[in-house]
Amino acid sequence: MPRTTHFITFDTYLPTGDIQPTDFVVREAPVPDLRDGEVLLQAIAFSLDPVNRIPISGKAPPRMSPHPLGEPMRGPSVCRLIESRNRDYPVGSVVTGWTPWSNLSVWPFANDWMGLTPFNDQFGKPSLALGVYGITGITAYLGISKIGKVRAGQTVLVSSAAGSVGSVAGQIARIMGARVIGMTSTREKRDVLVGQLGFDGALDYRAEDFAHQLELLMPNGPDVYFDNVGGRVSNIVMNRMRRPARIVECGQISTYGDGDGAWMMDITPIHANGLRFEGFNPALFKDEWPAAVAQLAKWVAEQRLKPLETVRTGLEALPGALADLFQGKNIGKMIVEIPQS
Ligand SMILES: NC(=O)c1ccc[n+]([C@@H]2O[C@H](COP(=O)([O-])OP(=O)(O)OC[C@H]3O[C@@H](n4cnc5c(N)ncnc54)[C@H](OP(=O)(O)O)[C@@H]3O)[C@@H](O)[C@H]2O)c1
Repeated sequence: MPRTTHFITFDTYLPTGDIQPTDFVVREAPVPDLRDGEVLLQAIAFSLDPVNRIPISGKAPPRMSPHPLGEPMRGPSVCRLIESRNRDYPVGSVVTGWTPWSNLSVWPFANDWMGLTPFNDQFGKPSLALGVYGITGITAYLGISKIGKVRAGQTVLVSSAAGSVGSVAGQIARIMGARVIGMTSTREKRDVLVGQLGFDGALDYRAEDFAHQLELLMPNGPDVYFDNVGGRVSNIVMNRMRRPARIVECGQISTYGDGDGAWMMDITPIHANGLRFEGFNPALFKDEWPAAVAQLAKWVAEQRLKPLETVRTGLEALPGALADLFQGKNIGKMIVEIPQS
């Protein structure tokens, strides 16, 4: 009897606006027999990321084609090899990759720029390879140390501070001796930042008097602004920053549903206040990933860095988890775990 798998896809692009779970559908597909060089992956957990907004927008990163309608969504995951015709990838090994949103998938895939990376089982729970030991942790580490050049005694402000990158970035800045203030939407999240993660304070960026609260906490603005959100809130922050302050431009999530306005920002405060604004992408520093992961693992082992996760269960939970990521329903890394048969 031929084997089948389920996968998540979409039939219409959504260039602007909020993602809804109903924008996606679950479909069934046959699993082909393996050919030489191929392996069969069984998904263990998927990471939900703001970058998942790109395929459904119908846009494409430079030099790439838009995601084909009806094809499985793809994103970061951790998987177990359950069959192999490739001696480099033995059955039973656990790997991370950029894989289809599917229970089972045959690798190699077309246009796989990432490949499969063996999971270091000393890290413990496989999903941590998608968070603190994955792009999230590496981005936070490089952003704070290499781009922000954070030093002891400085004040660091982090936007989306209770999120995946933000919660790690803020904790690293604390480890480096900075005073760290996080911005996030809910009381529950602000309590986690201060009560569990050791932040020095937390602000509600949606509050009517947000600008006033910021002024009271840091009259000259932060020394380093680690920005995950962009848009109106970041404009308020940057208008209050005084040189030689730095902005680490990590992401602009508040604009990703804006169509042609996505990633747009007002550079007036950068000009007027003489700020140093630096965007970055961890792929620019690939040689530094092993050292970054080793440092992150050391801090976790010393219990100075706490990785947080929001976990949903089952392949069908993926669309809702993605929609909820953009609604701020996660604390730490948003993960969907797939029950293992
Ligand atoms: N430079 C890179 O290579 C790189 C790598 C990874 C991620 N990133 C970027 O880093 C940022 C955070 O990514 P993540 O994976 O860590 O996601 P995340 O912060 O875990 O999740 C997204 C969070 O964004 C906040 N948010 C959503 N809409 C918002 C809005 N309109 N205004 C303000 N906040 C909003 C929500 O938190 P609240 O409850 O606080 O609103 C939500 O929980 C994104 O911009 C992403 O693109 C960049």
